[in-house]
Amino acid sequence: MLDAARRDPLRRPVVTSFFDPETGTASHVVRDRGSRACAIIDSVLNFDPATGRTSTESAKAIRDFVDDAGLEVAWQLETHVHADHLSAAQWLKSALGGQIAIGDGVARVQAHFSPMLGLERAAATEVFDHLFGDGETFHIGALRAIALEIPGHTPADLAYVIGDAVFAGDILLMPDAGSGRADFPGGDAAQLYRSARRLLGLPAEARMFVGHDYRAPGRETCAWETTIGAQRRDNIHLRDTVDEAAFVALRTARDRQLRVPRLIFPAMQTNLRGGRLPPPEANGVAYLKIPLNAPWPTGEPRTDAVLPRRQHRTAPP
Ligand SMILES: [Fe+2]
Repeated sequence: MLDAARRDPLRRPVVTSFFDPETGTASHVVRDRGSRACAIIDSVLNFDPATGRTSTESAKAIRDFVDDAGLEVAWQLETHVHADHLSAAQWLKSALGGQIAIGDGVARVQAHFSPMLGLERAAATEVFDHLFGDGETFHIGALRAIALEIPGHTPADLAYVIGDAVFAGDILLMPDAGSGRADFPGGDAAQLYRSARRLLGLPAEARMFVGHDYRAPGRETCAWETTIGAQRRDNIHLRDTVDEAAFVALRTARDRQLRVPRLIFPAMQTNLRGGRLPPPEANGVAYLKIPLNAPWPTGEPRTDAVLPRRQHRTAPP
């Protein structure tokens, strides 16, 4: 498919990316050159946990782009159940259409989080419009696409290979940033390594689009597009010379320093419902839950909020 795309410019999708600075998320609109069909990958619904306000600022930028270009949305694709932001797939579907799809391993993510959050384990087939199996092909207009299972960051990550472009989700970040974390419940650094190698076995010229960027030290701007060849040569965690044992050691040490994402509970409650917010309660207001001191499946989470007593202040200086 990638070879065919290289030979035929019509099979090279036009990719337009949108960056949400609050969560460092890159969303992508992937368009077939030969028709009006497109897919939206990993959209963001803005959420401020302090005020409980959602907003569609990021999603509106995508909607306006799609409307202005006269595109027709075939798919709302998720690379995985995100823990750091809420998906806008439902809002964008109601505005633009498109089937909401994710990997068929999503039940494994539900199994880790639904008990902790007291969520009903709704059948994933009722929550999402389509569940991709590993190697399943699909179309965006005349563009051929394939879903590849790449677990490790979560138990159910997918990459989408569309024409000559690979959408890697959070398995690989930009070469100077390395890889996504592997310490979420159900995550696995060795599995992440093998998933990354699977993607890095694709042709070196293939374009790779990543799902996040946090502007690595020394870089002026955020970035989300690279190539397989650049990743194999330069990725600070996953270049060709790093073997599995070295990667697992590096990733595990790094993960021990990372805090749990700020929006993990709001994100999981929304994204395990396919981007639906919880229904309103009797007073007409909807609530997101925060489990208090619930057992954490991967050992105690890091909480940098606990400071030595002498550093506590009761009021701003
Ligand atoms: Fe993620």
